[in-house]
Order: sequence, then structure tokens, then C-alpha cells
Amino acid sequence: MEFIKVNPQIEKHIALIELHRPKELNALNRQLMIEVRDALRELDEDDQVRVIILTGGEKVFAAGADIKQMANATAIDMYNIDQFSTWDQIKKTKKPIIAAVSGFALGGGCELAMTCDMIIATDTAKFGQPEIKIGTMPGAGGTQRLTRAIGKVRAMEMVLTGKFISAPEALQFGLINKIVPAALMLFETLRFAAEIAKLSPVAVKLAKESVNNAFNSTLDEGLIFERKNFYLTFASEDQKEGMAAFVEKRNPDFKGK
Ligand code: CAA
Repeated sequence: MEFIKVNPQIEKHIALIELHRPKELNALNRQLMIEVRDALRELDEDDQVRVIILTGGEKVFAAGADIKQMANATAIDMYNIDQFSTWDQIKKTKKPIIAAVSGFALGGGCELAMTCDMIIATDTAKFGQPEIKIGTMPGAGGTQRLTRAIGKVRAMEMVLTGKFISAPEALQFGLINKIVPAALMLFETLRFAAEIAKLSPVAVKLAKESVNNAFNSTLDEGLIFERKNFYLTFASEDQKEGMAAFVEKRNPDFKGK
């Protein structure tokens, strides 16, 4: 791994992926995204991992796709390279991914954070889709995920002007889960992740899948999908353990089975 650092067990059941291309503000070149894809695949298959944190470190999350790498590409180059296909792994990952964002999350950086399931941001975070300022537009989900997250008029303003929003604005608009002090980013994100990591990994994955399905289905289809996943949890030992623990007034011990 050249551009990321991976710790599969930063804490019990929690893995950390850190983008590490500091001189270029973690600009997302193709190799970096291939590494993210491969790391996610591996962590998704690792039974010890229940939650994945994706961060860029304390200074910057990511300043977008690598402009220098694509500046002279033709449309057919872009089509053939199909750089966003590596991003599909993020969507396919069954375990929850929490983005921990400090500093700039711009263009592909903002899109990367939005492709994760939840976003913890520090007070220095700035989100933006500035592609319009370099003569193009978002290409990794910005027009779709941002619009679903913050609504049409706000997404239009960000995408058509390229202006950045601050962490408090992102919180107010519903783009992020919470704001934490920059110095405590990892600590607070780990605390947040630990709340999920102690739960049934089977139920967590099925619940994540069901929430995501809300974006791809009608209400009736989504409700049917949800109900089936709810029933499916009853095939797990974790459901038996969770309900028995409630009745016996003790803490459950979930095994992910
Ligand atoms: N691609 C390639 N290199 C980048 C980069 C990017 N997206 N963002 C920053 N860098 C490089 C800079 O070129 C610079 O390198 P050199 O030292 O070799 O010149 C280095 O990182 C530091 O950047 P700055 O000197 O510009 O730092 P700054 O603090 O003055 O400004 C910034 C920070 C406002 C984030 C500015 O770097 C910037 O505007 N970056 C580009 C943001 C952007 O337009 N992102 C969208 C990219 S397109 C995209 O993402 C498409 C998509 O939908 C996937």
C-alpha cells in the first residue's frame, strides 16, 4: 500500500483506513482508490472487523480526484479507465463505514465521505463540490448523494457555484452526524464506532442494507425488503442472545452468528 495506511484492529472489532498522500492533500489518484477498494474488500471479509473508519488524518480528508492525473485525458480515456468503478466497492461493503473528516473534503473527497455510511467531522472540516470551477462537474455521486442528503436547492448552490460549507452548516443541513474537536477526531470516532461494534454484526449489516435500499426502491418495495431482513435476523444466534439478555436483564454477548 503506497497511499493508504490500514490498521485492521485499531480497537476491538474496529478497523482504520487512513488516506496518506499528504503533499497532494490526499488527492484521490487511481492507485489510491484501488488501494482503498482492496483494503475494504479484505476488511469486509475479516470476521474480527465489525466497523470500518475511513479518514484522511487531522489536516485534510481529501481535496478531490487527482486533477493532474486527468487534466489531459480525453472522454474516451476517461471511459476506458473507468476510474469510478473502484468506488463501487465502497457501496458493496456490508459492514458500516464511518468517514472521519477533518479539513477539506472537496469534489471526490466530499463524494468519498458521502459514499460512507456516516460522517463525523471536526470543526475544521469544509465540504464542497468545486468541480464547476475547473470546467467540469461531480462524477462520483456528488449530484446524487448531496441532493439526497441536503435537498435540491442547497445541492444546486454547492454544485453550481462550487462554494464550500463549514462543519456547522453541514450538520444543520443533515450531511454529517456530529462535529468533534479536531484534536479528538480519532478518539471520538472510535467511541462512535464502538457503540456499533458491540452490537450484532449480522443485524447491523442487514439494517445497513435496508437503509440503503430506501434510496433505490419505492416505499412499498422498501418495506417488504426491510421486513424480510427483519425476519432474517431471527435465523441468527445473535437475535436469540439479544432477546434472552433483555429478558434476563444482562448485557448481550454478540458473536456475529
Ligand atoms: N488534484 C491534484 N493535486 C491537488 C489537488 C487535486 N484535487 N488538490 C490539491 N492538490 C495539490 C496541489 O496542486 C499542490 O501541489 P503542488 O505543491 O505540487 O503545487 C498541493 O496539493 C497543495 O495544494 P495547494 O497549494 O493548492 O493548497 P492550498 O492550501 O493553497 O489550497 C485547496 C487547498 C483549496 C484544497 C486547493 O488545493 C484546491 O482547490 N484543490 C482542488 C480542489 C478541487 O477542485 N477538487 C475537485 C477535483 S475534481 C473531482 O473531484 C471530480 C470528481 O467528481 C471525482
